[in-house]
Formats: sequence, C-alpha cells, structure tokens
Amino acid sequence: MSIEHLAETALAMVAAGKGIIAIDESNATIAKRFDGVGIPNTEENRRAYRELLLTTPKLNEYVSGAILFDETIRQSTKAGVPFAKYMADNGIIPGIKVDKGTVPLAGFPGELVTEGLDGLRARLEEYYTLGARFAKWRAVINIGEDIPSGSCIEANSHALARYAALCQEAGLVPMVEPEVLIDGRHDIETCYEVTEVTLRSLFDALYQQNVALEGTILKASMVLPGKDSGEGASVDEVAESTLMCLKSAVPAILPGIVFLSGGQSDEDATAHLDAMNRMGPNPWPLTFSYGRAMQSAALKLWSQDLAGNVAKAQDTVYARARDNGMAAQGQWTRGG
Ligand code: 13P
Repeated sequence: MSIEHLAETALAMVAAGKGIIAIDESNATIAKRFDGVGIPNTEENRRAYRELLLTTPKLNEYVSGAILFDETIRQSTKAGVPFAKYMADNGIIPGIKVDKGTVPLAGFPGELVTEGLDGLRARLEEYYTLGARFAKWRAVINIGEDIPSGSCIEANSHALARYAALCQEAGLVPMVEPEVLIDGRHDIETCYEVTEVTLRSLFDALYQQNVALEGTILKASMVLPGKDSGEGASVDEVAESTLMCLKSAVPAILPGIVFLSGGQSDEDATAHLDAMNRMGPNPWPLTFSYGRAMQSAALKLWSQDLAGNVAKAQDTVYARARDNGMAAQGQWTRGG
C-alpha cells in the first residue's frame, strides 16, 4: 500500500471540525459500562447499542471515523447491512482495535505491557477485507511511586512501533495510543514529564521500525493532575501543558493528533480540546477520539428504555459530536 494512500486516510480522519468516536470496548470493558446502568451484557445488546451509535443521524457532520471491536466489525444492522459497509456508505471510516489488552510486565510490579503482536499480520489482512482502514493499539503507562520505569516505556513503545509497521504494510493507518493514566496522586508536572518521555520513546521506536509518520495518527492523553492528587488545574493550564508537551516531542510531519477522554467529564474533555485549538495555530490538527466522553449520556438514556429511547439517545450522541467538532476548531461555546 502506498504511503500516499495511507496519508490520504490519515488526513481524512482529522479533517477540519471532525473527530473519531471510539466504540471499541472489549467485551470485558463494555460489561463494566453496561453493568453501571443495569443492561445485561448479551451479544444482541452489544450489537443493538453499537447500531444505535453508528446510525446516529448526521453523525458524519462531525465524525470522520469510528473504532470498532473485533465482534462489532463482524456484526450488522438489524436490517442486515454489515456495520463496516453501513459506515463507509455514510462517510464514516471504519477503524478496528487490534491489541489484545494489557498484562502485567514481568519483573516490573505495577506496570503493564500490551499484547497482540503474534499473528497480527494475518489479522490485519482480514480486517482490511472486512473494511477497516485504520487500526488502534493502546499502551498503558501507570504513574506511581518509582513508576513508570524506562523498561516499561520502552517495551510498550517497541510493541506500538511493531504494530504500526504491520498496519502500514496491510494498508491500515496506525493510530498509536500511549495512554498515561489519570489514576494516581501525582501532580500535573509529573504527568507532563511522564508524557514527554513516553512520546519521545514512542517516536524513536517508530523511526527505528521504519514507520512512515505521514501515514500515522497519534492518540494522546492530555496532561492532567492525577485523579486523587486533590489538585485542580484550570482549562488553560491543561491546554498549555498538553500543547507544550506535544510540541516538544511530536514531529510536525504527523498528519494529526486525536485525544482520548480518559475519565475526564464530558465538559472538561470538550473544554480542553477547545482551548488547545484556540491557542493555535498548532503544527497538527488536534481533535477527539473519545469513548466515554462521547457515549456516557447516550448509554444512560438508552438503559432507561432500550426500545423507546433510541432516538433520544442518538440526539445526545449528535450533540456530543457537534460540541467536540466545534472544539476541534476552537469554536465551542459552553452551554451553547
Ligand atoms: P475514553 O475516551 O473513554 O478514554 O476511550 C478512548 C479510548 O479509545 C481508550 O482506548
């Protein structure tokens, strides 16, 4: 697959005022989300919920692509149209989560490494035939006493780079996601330092593995104080720290950066993205790839009436897409 082709897809993913909806929860993760609102975690409920999200009217005004889970890319709408086809027909680029989740990193208590490289080449070939045009791999970096270690960061960067090279070989744009977790008591400066060293390690590994950055998207976490730090940070402080960190570690040739919401409130996730774009021009388009911050309102409404609340739930998905699409252009108005 040519680099031009990958670059074209990457640019379409971060087109002005558009972002990504992440609906790639593994069955274990969606079980937690369903549990939280009392929905039985059956295959049909998972299918119906993903159909609700993906068939939100006019979603493509603000959403360029959606990340699916393995089960979902094999499912169809109630009318029998495979989700990936429905998406492509409606201007939404199909993406797929291809990592197999995290396991403890041997020898490094409290740290994780992401698995899924074995057999990945064949899986990517199949996902391409199923319609996927980009793929996501999430690495998790924990902040705590004496962690993260350099070894953990390097192991995760190496895996991300190996996966990214395989994606490009298969014609899929890699969305590389090194998530620095919000959990913990660390301050915002610590998050800054860990994020910077993680990103530098990642881009070094991508270079070592011959990954073409023109056909790669970074999915980044924002620079925030730890959830249990008791520290607050203003919207501008988060936006400034995140921008400075990205500018110091991410090559300008990258087509775009998307953010995860990572446990922030819906409004914070939008406000932070908006502020970063108001502070532009920036070297890259900055947009969203939110999971929870796109879905939480819809899931709650749907759980109250699975058959009756579909349209209402879709209205909230559209509203969240619009807010975040405006924020991607620095044009969001609070409560507007
Ligand atoms: P959240 O926005 O809920 O953090 O999820 C995004 C994602 O894809 C994490 O891998």
